[in-house]
Amino acid sequence: MFPAILIEDLTKDYPVGFWRRRHYRALDRLSLSIEAGEVFGFLGPNGAGKTTTLKLLMQLIFPTSGRAEILGRPIGHVDARRRIGYLPENPYFYDYLTAEELLTYFAQLLDVPTAARRKRVAGLLDRVGIGRERRFQLRKFSKGMIQRVGIAQALLNEPDVLFLDEPMSGLDPLGRRDVRSLILELRDQGRTVFFSSHILADAEALCGRVAVVAGGRLAAEGRLSELAEFTARGWELVVANLAPEALERLRPLATRVTEIGTGRYTLELPLTQAPERIIPEIASTGATVVSMNPVRETLEDFFIQRITEAGTGARGAMAEGEHARR
Ligand SMILES: Nc1ncnc2c1ncn2[C@@H]1O[C@H](COP(=O)(O)OP(=O)(O)O)[C@@H](O)[C@H]1O
Ligand SMILES: [Mg+2]
Repeated sequence: MFPAILIEDLTKDYPVGFWRRRHYRALDRLSLSIEAGEVFGFLGPNGAGKTTTLKLLMQLIFPTSGRAEILGRPIGHVDARRRIGYLPENPYFYDYLTAEELLTYFAQLLDVPTAARRKRVAGLLDRVGIGRERRFQLRKFSKGMIQRVGIAQALLNEPDVLFLDEPMSGLDPLGRRDVRSLILELRDQGRTVFFSSHILADAEALCGRVAVVAGGRLAAEGRLSELAEFTARGWELVVANLAPEALERLRPLATRVTEIGTGRYTLELPLTQAPERIIPEIASTGATVVSMNPVRETLEDFFIQRITEAGTGARGAMAEGEHARR
């Protein structure tokens, strides 16, 4: 079986500068392979090259070098194109149409049979949570609602492979939760989802595997649980009603103790102090465990570290030619 998405040495130089033509390498020899049925997170900070990659895959722009396949066909092949859906970053739609009119229009373009059209449009609008607002003009919609219209649009042709560029951006926490469960639902139907994000938590809630890009280059790839960079370094416990004697007993176990308020403390514990053992001990003193969280590097820490580590590396080395920016 071929992978759902295959990316080989994909490279994109943007021409920059007016008088003196130069190139800016936004993507540098990216290679990835994504299996059918995977939810794959494509992570990276702003400017990493995520949108560029998605636009290349959608053939909205063309690569300087390298190639890609979708469902075993070179991108652009009509059989592949028919089976993909795409949510652009910051989708923009004609303001004076209603959500229903817009989707009906797209359904016509996609040759969705007339008989099925109404039902499909209504079903999708309900599914993305804007069924009640279907007759509102899009100019009345918030960013989050437009994002939902965009997702419905990407699903109109019932695609096997979905490309979502920052699907959670502009959404409030409820909206994020809805989009996350929608993505999981799509996965359960056997579809492949490739989504970009700059937020690690989105990937943790959704993905088996991720790729991290920074400065146009692949910085890490694999299962989140296996990427050493993202595994826990310890535990953070917030405890209330902790008696002074109990605190003194716990202090040697902790790497750091911070008093938040009377009897309320944050205890930072090393990975070796299994919380399963410590929590009963704390509870037996009459104290309450308010919360427990793994302490780990955030995606932001990871980027900062990688980028500074690479120094001129990530940005500099990719500048084989010259760069006008940065
Ligand atoms: N049309 C363009 N011309 C020149 N540079 C561009 C163009 N589009 C994007 N870039 C640059 O390429 C880099 C990658 O951009 P992008 O793919 O949009 O990143 P991301 O989606 O990860 O935030 C950025 O530094 C951006 O400024
Ligand atoms: Mg982007």
